[in-house]
Amino acid sequence: MKKSAQEKNAALKLEGVSKSFPLNRQRKTVLQDINLVVQKGEFVSIVGPSGCGKSTLLRLIAGVEPEFDGVIEDEQGTISGPGRARGMLFQEHRLFPWLTVRRNIELGAYNAKLGSGELRALVDAQLTRVGLTEFAEAFPQQLSGGMAQRVSIARTLMGSPALLLLDEPFSALDAFTKIRLQTELASIWASTGITMLLVTHDIEEAVFLSDRIVVLDANPGRIKQVIVNSTTHPRIRTSAQFNAVRESLFRALNLTAVSDHRNLSLAI
Ligand SMILES: Nc1ncnc2c1ncn2[C@@H]1O[C@H](COP(=O)(O)OP(=O)(O)OP(=O)(O)O)[C@@H](O)[C@H]1O
Ligand SMILES: [Mg+2]
Repeated sequence: MKKSAQEKNAALKLEGVSKSFPLNRQRKTVLQDINLVVQKGEFVSIVGPSGCGKSTLLRLIAGVEPEFDGVIEDEQGTISGPGRARGMLFQEHRLFPWLTVRRNIELGAYNAKLGSGELRALVDAQLTRVGLTEFAEAFPQQLSGGMAQRVSIARTLMGSPALLLLDEPFSALDAFTKIRLQTELASIWASTGITMLLVTHDIEEAVFLSDRIVVLDANPGRIKQVIVNSTTHPRIRTSAQFNAVRESLFRALNLTAVSDHRNLSLAI
């Protein structure tokens, strides 16, 4: 059968994806009938309440959770296990403390057959990209949280992923570092064309980075709404256009954007 233009440009396709876990001798449905197509080069965020299945969804796409209903396909076809084309970033940097920054980054190319000169040049390029050239021989404990997360980004990029799965990568960082790393991620996205799927609890982060924002509901986790973010680039966090999308997201999540200690009637 001929594929539609939309399907040909798809980096990721989820069809009728459901997942349950055993709980108290029964099965608890965590994700129910998730349907989503992510286009090549698109940046999609997933937001939703704690426990609605966001990390589980990323794990299914990463191929580390083999049992589920439905179909998940990337550009290579049906996903049946982990693969180099899908990189993953977590809240914690997951660096090896006994290895230098350079050695940690090298591990990102673990099964690419590279000569030592080639490997060194590639690591140097990633170090430049994340601004850590002078820390190549440092150990993780000598880095700040933001620097360690940068090393982790560099390590993931070593695998040349077509799709990057990010599970709250900046949520443990302070507000200023977070803004800096969001800006760096936006520039990596723009310069590499890597398709990105980000799980976040940070509304501003979702609006700053995404083309589309998928809002999940809980129990069972399902798609409640998809918000298209056509805020023009470069994005200005304080612009009216940016704030309008932020407000749509507050509404979709049933959150109020104003304090209510004086019974303000402006609550969304
Ligand atoms: N391996 C597992 N075995 C049993 N239940 C699990 C397992 N992994 C996740 N769950 C359950 O699935 C549900 C969704 O978990 P998940 O970690 O995907 O949520 P989340 O949306 O990422 O939450 P948070 O925002 O807190 O990170 C939870 O109820 C959790 O208890
Ligand atoms: Mg999670």
